[in-house]
Amino acid sequence: MSTTHLVIEQSLNLNGRVMLNGAKNAVLVIMASLILTRGKSTLTNVPCSDDVIQMIALLRSLGAELFFLKDEHILQVDTTHLAHCKVNPEIMKKMRASILVMGPLLARFGRAEIAAPGGCVIGARPIDYHLKSFKKMGVVIDEQGDYLTAVVQRIKSGRLVFEYPSVGATENILMAATLTPGVTHLVNAALEPEVLDLIAILTKMGARISIHAPATIVVEGVSTLRAVEHDIIPDRLEAGALLLAAAVTGGTIELPQAHAYSMDVFLCKLEEMGHTIQIGEDGYGVTLKATPEPCAVSFKTAPYPGFPTDLQAPMMTAQCLAQGTSIIEEAVFENRLLHVRELQKMGAQIKADGVKATITGVEHLYGAGVIATDIRASCALALAGLAAKGTTVMTAIHHWMRGYDGLEKKLSTLGAHISFMNELELHALGLGRTEFSKEQSL
Ligand code: EPZ
Repeated sequence: MSTTHLVIEQSLNLNGRVMLNGAKNAVLVIMASLILTRGKSTLTNVPCSDDVIQMIALLRSLGAELFFLKDEHILQVDTTHLAHCKVNPEIMKKMRASILVMGPLLARFGRAEIAAPGGCVIGARPIDYHLKSFKKMGVVIDEQGDYLTAVVQRIKSGRLVFEYPSVGATENILMAATLTPGVTHLVNAALEPEVLDLIAILTKMGARISIHAPATIVVEGVSTLRAVEHDIIPDRLEAGALLLAAAVTGGTIELPQAHAYSMDVFLCKLEEMGHTIQIGEDGYGVTLKATPEPCAVSFKTAPYPGFPTDLQAPMMTAQCLAQGTSIIEEAVFENRLLHVRELQKMGAQIKADGVKATITGVEHLYGAGVIATDIRASCALALAGLAAKGTTVMTAIHHWMRGYDGLEKKLSTLGAHISFMNELELHALGLGRTEFSKEQSL
């Protein structure tokens, strides 16, 4: 089957109103949390992205029954007959989020057999914070190479302190704690909006959870949790991508569902650039009207509510076209600047040094053959293609498919010329491999 590429033509002045999908980083962990229940749950506003399809396959392999109404974004999950606690290693390897079934499996069965989810280009992605806390809860973990067998006779409550507010570790331990007798404190916990959405559904299930300063989640264990209905929160990362599409093309985009208060630092930085941000009542609804002369801004990524690492790459694209110099420091992942090389192919003036990148704004970017290195890098490159003169052809678009559900369609409704093409279609348009100079090889 010929490779599919994402082809983006310069598309200035994108305008319009767009609805958001459910958050990828909420729905994946929420799907895993259903392992804690026995019964039929219904999730709404579920994005139809490749990672969701993978998580469906994983839950099915454990014995759950799932029915996905893709067009309606409704996912029905029946965990009544979920009986296995060994995760297929092939599925584990495909998606980092698969580690999030460990806590629910331990809570329900006292056992979990998984493969270490492995790293990816943005970092080693270790799971030591997860394992350290599970061991403190009395879990015995046998590591054989890439494979982990975790067993617990009587899971213990207690005070668990994270050395870093890891999103995944917080979610994994939190889910295990909901069915752990006694009171468990998660200190220095992650409190991203997606973690709060997990807490919301766990509470609906009957879990007893409260949040206390500073960044402490307190869980009083219960004996059972019930199946529920839940609407996934809108995706703030898709919202960020769409607002930046307006910013880099000089347009105006309205997102009625975006929750401004889940992206405060990001919106402040856009205003510092000179863009006009309008926020609706109670923070619901965000509109960006682009300034024709954006100023470069600097930022450092951090755990929530700091600048989100998942918007670092797309925001870097906006700095490439801003006036002045921007210094971006990626402080969450150790190798999340791989999109720099691809943006440089398009004419961006960027110097990367370790986890820091210094960007000098340029008048124009130019279409090129580029390679997506991770989900958010694929977004950064698509945004660059919308602003760049000429045509950009992106390969490795499985990253785009993993993280977004039809974002290219949404951009098209705003006036963007963006679509998938296979090699034959590319060639027919004279965009075959020969069209790009050798260093821009696809
Ligand atoms: C979640 O990953 C998200 N993924 C990531 O989104 C997001 O970038 C990240 O949180 C930070 O917000 C999902 O929710 C599915 P972490 P997670 O544990 O849980 C280190 C995207 O593009 N660490 O908060 O894996 C880790 O290496 C993805 O949507 C350890 O050292 O992130 C990283 O440097 C990318 N040991 C830092 O902590 C551990 O045991 C933050 O990781 C766990 C993490």
